[in-house]
Amino acid sequence: KLIAGNWKMNGLRADGTALARDLVSRAAKSPPTCDLLVCPPATLLAEIGSLLAGSRIALGGQDCHAERRQNHHESDPTVRAKATAGLGAGLIPIVCVGETAAQRDAKQHLSVCGGQIAGSLPEIAGAGQLVVAYEPVWAIGTGRTPTTTDIAEVHAFIRAELKKRVANPDAVRILYGGSVNAKNAAEILGVANVDGALVGGASLDGASFWTIAQAAG
Ligand code: PGA
Repeated sequence: KLIAGNWKMNGLRADGTALARDLVSRAAKSPPTCDLLVCPPATLLAEIGSLLAGSRIALGGQDCHAERRQNHHESDPTVRAKATAGLGAGLIPIVCVGETAAQRDAKQHLSVCGGQIAGSLPEIAGAGQLVVAYEPVWAIGTGRTPTTTDIAEVHAFIRAELKKRVANPDAVRILYGGSVNAKNAAEILGVANVDGALVGGASLDGASFWTIAQAAG
């Protein structure tokens, strides 16, 4: 499993470096079996990158403001172009898909996610070069999560969509993201086809992030 911490633009230099040092020391003392990734603010990438070097924790980047589809009206072709550019630069893109509350109420969640996968996954990606995250917009930063049944439905659907498009689809990790925390992580990570979590708010606290990582194994 992969546990990814998306710090978004939270924290200045002192906060980010303290958090990175805390995670490196936790990883040295009690290494989890899952893969670990943190995505600090763009302004801190170089410094956090050198703190993480040689540790079990990988470094990821992000746009300099989060929620790109919802708040910046990024379209499927834009997401695909960015993911393809990332692949070309030797990066592993995390492509996020997910429905709004209104789309979920209208029972359009599968068609929305299916459309986003069809339109925004890079065409050339293979397993190991791509991570997909199911991030229902209404669950991001709200403290609300879908039921485990709902998560299982969407993740199985995403797996089936990957089978149509990607070589070795079972090896593509599908993360769940949206209000994952230290209390609900074990239950969510136990759902079929959930290969990890993309954690926002709870990744800003070293102890919470570590509890989530340990829940992943
Ligand atoms: P959250 O954010 O965990 O704070 O809900 C998730 C995300 O946007 O990746």
